[in-house]
Amino acid sequence: MRTIAIMSPKGGIAKTTSADTIAYILGEEKGKKVLLIDADPQGDTSKAYQRYDPEGEGLSGLLERHRYVGGGFDTSYFIEQTDYQNIDIITANGYLMQTDMRLRLEREKTQIERLRETLKEVDKQYDYCICDCGRLLDMVVINVLIAAEMVIAPVKLGGFENEAIYNLQEQLDDLCELNEKLHIKGIITMRQKNKTTLEFEQWMKEQSGFKMFKTPVRRSIVVEKASMAMKPLPAFSKNSVAVKDYRAIVEELLGE
Ligand SMILES: Nc1ncnc2c1ncn2[C@@H]1O[C@H](COP(=O)(O)OP(=O)(O)OP(=O)(O)O)[C@@H](O)[C@H]1O
Ligand SMILES: [Mg+2]
Repeated sequence: MRTIAIMSPKGGIAKTTSADTIAYILGEEKGKKVLLIDADPQGDTSKAYQRYDPEGEGLSGLLERHRYVGGGFDTSYFIEQTDYQNIDIITANGYLMQTDMRLRLEREKTQIERLRETLKEVDKQYDYCICDCGRLLDMVVINVLIAAEMVIAPVKLGGFENEAIYNLQEQLDDLCELNEKLHIKGIITMRQKNKTTLEFEQWMKEQSGFKMFKTPVRRSIVVEKASMAMKPLPAFSKNSVAVKDYRAIVEELLGE
């Protein structure tokens, strides 16, 4: 199983859209077995996959009540099926903020290794584990980053947006000591076709020092509509330009 985190310290930059869409294309179009993890207390991925439950256990349960930490449950107990055959999910809700606080108060090393250790149980059952992170580097997201081999960071044109990926790199530098495999790869997102954007894209790819996916994701109103409909983008519209771009990104991912 390849575990990939979608993360950026910037809000509203297409983390959830990227996670949900990449998971969908891998699972439904490429026939891979996908475990989707919602690691954001907003629960947006859980909502898009119609599994949001404000009282549900999901990732909070996994991190707090698994056998590994003295609870009574296996990893599979916290995994739910979605409406899509190849995609299962571990959901999130607001309770994840309390999980973060509990993990903070924990003084054992397991506090940041819980996800990595509990996922070992399902390693053979899935090809990919895609984790949608919130924008804060809290203990839950640190658990994701210790379990992951790659961070996909959406980037969009704009001064603060560019800076976000450098901030992310700084945040990850410390974690790389604990997880040597971890590396960042950027996706240009919400790309519009104008000279400034194209120059930025070229700079990102050639001079920023970051590895980037070759394909940028174009801005499209269909993506907003899919979010409003609370559906994974390709399930809402198979042929939007943004879906085509994400398909090319998945090909890049599979070709690595
Ligand atoms: N390529 C795109 N074109 C147009 N709109 C987009 C595109 N990608 C994402 N959006 C829109 O931008 C908004 C934010 O996207 P999304 O929720 O995926 O971001 P996020 O980084 O997960 O946000 P948060 O920080 O709240 O978790 C949504 O309304 C979404 O529909
Ligand atoms: Mg999100």
